[in-house]
Amino acid sequence: QANALWGGRFEAGPSAVMEAINASIDTDKRLAEQDIAGSIAHAEMLSAQGIISSADGAAIKRGLEQVRDEVRSGAMQWSKALEDVHMNVESRLKEIIGDPAGRLHTARSRNDQVATDFRLWMREACDRADAALAAYQAALVEQAAKHADTVMPGFTHLQTAQPISLGHHLLCWVEAAERDRGRFADAKKRLNESPLGAAALAGTAFPIDRDRTAKALGFNRAMGNSLDAVSSRDFALEVLSAAAITATHLSRFAEEIVLWTSRRFGFAKLSDAWSTGSSIMPQKRNPDAAELVRAKPGSIIGSLTQLLIVVKGLPLAYSKDLQEDKAPVFRALDDLELALAAMTGMAGDLTFNTEAMTEAAGEAYSDATDLADYVVRELGKPFRSAHHIAGTAVKLAESKGVPLSGLTLDDFRSVDPDIREDVFSVLSARASMESRTSYGGTAPVRVKEQVARWRARLQGA
Ligand code: ARG
Repeated sequence: QANALWGGRFEAGPSAVMEAINASIDTDKRLAEQDIAGSIAHAEMLSAQGIISSADGAAIKRGLEQVRDEVRSGAMQWSKALEDVHMNVESRLKEIIGDPAGRLHTARSRNDQVATDFRLWMREACDRADAALAAYQAALVEQAAKHADTVMPGFTHLQTAQPISLGHHLLCWVEAAERDRGRFADAKKRLNESPLGAAALAGTAFPIDRDRTAKALGFNRAMGNSLDAVSSRDFALEVLSAAAITATHLSRFAEEIVLWTSRRFGFAKLSDAWSTGSSIMPQKRNPDAAELVRAKPGSIIGSLTQLLIVVKGLPLAYSKDLQEDKAPVFRALDDLELALAAMTGMAGDLTFNTEAMTEAAGEAYSDATDLADYVVRELGKPFRSAHHIAGTAVKLAESKGVPLSGLTLDDFRSVDPDIREDVFSVLSARASMESRTSYGGTAPVRVKEQVARWRARLQGA
C-alpha cells in the first residue's frame, strides 16, 4: 500500500529492505520537541499571512500541542512505516484533528523542516555542553583552591622536570575547558539562523513571512539562500569539532588520573564511588571511568570524521545522505555529556597523597634549574655557563647517590669555587615552586590569584 503522505504517484508500498534503509525514526524521534515547535511557528505564520484560515491554524496548533503531550508522556506510537519524525508527527496530527492537518505542510518541505529541527536541537546541545563544562571547571577550581600550596613534580616527556603547584596543574584544565566553552558558544552563534521557509530547495511562491518564524523560534535571522538553508551541515561539523577537541582535553586529564592513582605514582586516590574491582584479583581498585573517558575520543572524533565524509562531495541541494547526519551527532554529544559528568565527579572526588607528591617533587634533581638560576642571579654568570655548572653538580651528586642538597659546600666549590653557603636555600622543591612568581607561573601566590579570578568568572556565568 502506497504512502499516505507522498504516495499519489505510487501503486505499491516499499520492500521491507527499502523501508529498513529509509526509516530514520529510531534516531530522529529525538527531534520531536523541536519538530513540533517548528510546526507551530510555521502554522501560526501561515494563518497570520492568510495562507490558511485562522480556524485551521488554531486547530493545527491545538493538535500539535496534544501530540507534544503524548510524546512527553511516552504515549506516542512511533511507526517505521512513516519513515521519520516529521511524518509521524503529521500523521498523528491528522488522526487528532482530521483534514486541517493536511494544510500544515503548505509552503514547507521536510528539507527545511529537518534543517530547522536540527539547528534548534544543536542550539540546546551547545547550552548543555556549556553548563556541563562550567560544572567541570568549578570542581577543578575548588580542588585547586585546596591545593595551591601542594608541591608536585611537573613533567616534560613524563620525566620529572620542575616542582609545580598541584593547584596550578589543575587550573591548566580549567583554561582548556574555558576555550572549549568558547568554541561551543561560537558554533552556537553561527548556527542560530533559520532555514524554515526555504521549502524543498528554491523557496516558495506563497507569501510567507520567514522573519516571523525565525523570530518565533529564537533564531537571529532567516537564512538568505534557500539552497544553503537545506543543504549545509557545517553547523553540525562545528559542534562536533568542539566536542572532539573537548574530548581530547578530557582524555588527557583522564590519563593523568589513571597514572596518579596507580601504585607506581601513588599521588591520588578515587573513592569507592569512582572505582571498580576485579572479578579475579580481590585487591584491585581500577579507575574504569577515567579509562573510559580516555577512550571516548574514539567515538567522538569518529563521529566528526563520519559526518565530514557524509557531507564531502555532495552536490546541491538536499540528498538523502544528509539523513545520516543525526546519529553521529547524537552519539558524540551523549558521549561527551557522560564523559563530562564523569570527569566532574572524579575531579571533585580525588584525594591527593600530598606527602608522596612532595617527596616525588624533590626527586630526580628537579631543583637543577634553581641551581643554575642561582648561579646566574647570585654569581652573575651567563645562563649557558650556569647550565653547565649545574649539570656538573648533578653528575657529581648522582655519582655520590645524593640529591643536590646532599652535596657539601666543598663539593659545590669543586664545581665552581664562587658558590656560597646560601646555595642551599634554593635547593628544595617548595622553594623552587614558590620562587616562580612570574605572571601565569606556578608560585602559590599566583595560583591563588587565578583561583580567585576563576571563582569570580564562574559565579558570574
Ligand atoms: N528524514 C529526512 C532527513 O533526516 C528528512 C528529510 C527528507 N527529505 C526528503 N526529501 N526525503 O534528512
